[in-house]
Amino acid sequence: MSKHTFIEACYRRPTSHVPVWLMRQAGRYQPSYREVRKGVSFFDLCQNADLAAQVTINAVEEMNVDAGIIFSDILVPLRAMGAPVELTEAGPKLTPPIRTASDVDKLQLVDPAETMPFVMDAIRKFNAHFSNQVPLIGFAGGPITLAAYLVEGGHSRNFIELKKMLFCEPRLAHNLLEKLGKMVARHLIAQVEAGCHAVQVFDSWVGILSPDDFREFALPYTRAIFEELRACGVPRIYFGTDTSTLLEQITTIDAEVLGLDWRIDLDVGWKRIGDRFAVQGNLDPLCLLMDEPALEQRIQRILDRAAKRPGFIFNLGHGILPPTDPARVRFLVDTVHRLSKTAG
Ligand code: CP3
Repeated sequence: MSKHTFIEACYRRPTSHVPVWLMRQAGRYQPSYREVRKGVSFFDLCQNADLAAQVTINAVEEMNVDAGIIFSDILVPLRAMGAPVELTEAGPKLTPPIRTASDVDKLQLVDPAETMPFVMDAIRKFNAHFSNQVPLIGFAGGPITLAAYLVEGGHSRNFIELKKMLFCEPRLAHNLLEKLGKMVARHLIAQVEAGCHAVQVFDSWVGILSPDDFREFALPYTRAIFEELRACGVPRIYFGTDTSTLLEQITTIDAEVLGLDWRIDLDVGWKRIGDRFAVQGNLDPLCLLMDEPALEQRIQRILDRAAKRPGFIFNLGHGILPPTDPARVRFLVDTVHRLSKTAG
């Protein structure tokens, strides 16, 4: 990969403009995605390397972002491990959920290249399409976020079943989290071996934990994943939501980039994280419902908080939501580029 703004920013080197990519940049807000999805189920789309590569490429070309993220889902490796994951109108469903020692034992630590060849093929197809000139991000879920889906059996409001396991059967919870951590590390390494130029761990539900429970149940497994990934030599991004009470602990993760959600001011978050990390974030995705002048003000506000420090990657504070106008997304990307361009 030649010097690319996204990769350079991950390593906190100066760039000609602030690079931008968006979580869930490929998805239902795009007419081209909905068209592809008419003919196939969600998991069939994930398992079809041609289609997965195509929607990944479409997002990059339609939105003019500085990096792609391979089209898949954090649930895909859970299926490869043998968990009964389906996607329904109401979101992910796992029936029966994983709650006992024998359920955990049955989850298999599988070879990602063997069980998810479509992910690796889609990565190669993306890189072939762009002659390896557009950075591609591989990803996986954080152990606690994956455990939340497995143990709850789907999305949850209070995470009662997960916390019941953490608090009443901590040994069992640790076994599950350790297994998930190992699978995540393998999956990320396999994606880098297939050609990904960076990796991101999505820990969307980690903010449900108290600082003490984060220290016990999330941090050790997350740190182990990032330490194992170090030898891959690509930028490693950790993104969690609702992490304002956890940031100091998060800085003990061996990552190049930390993602912030919109619940914290970027400069305040960056100050607490310190200058050893690049920072990615953090516009509220629903700001994309604003008109263009109002949205531009919000973008400028975030750029002001980043204050031209090297090592800033513009992103949303969480994924794009379906009611978003694709034209507004394109406006966001072009506006970040225009407002952040340095003279000369
Ligand atoms: O463009 C990209 O960002 C790459 C693709 C991507 C998807 N999911 C595609 C998807 C990525 C990076 C994810 C990550 C993911 N998946 C997360 C972490 C980020 C986050 O949003 O918190 C989580 C928690 C999931 C689990 C998941 N997958 C849920 C809860 C749902 C249902 C809710 C929803 O948005 O529909 C999915 C399905 C899913 N994953 C869709 C897409 C485009 C929509 C499925 C469809 O086509 O109907």
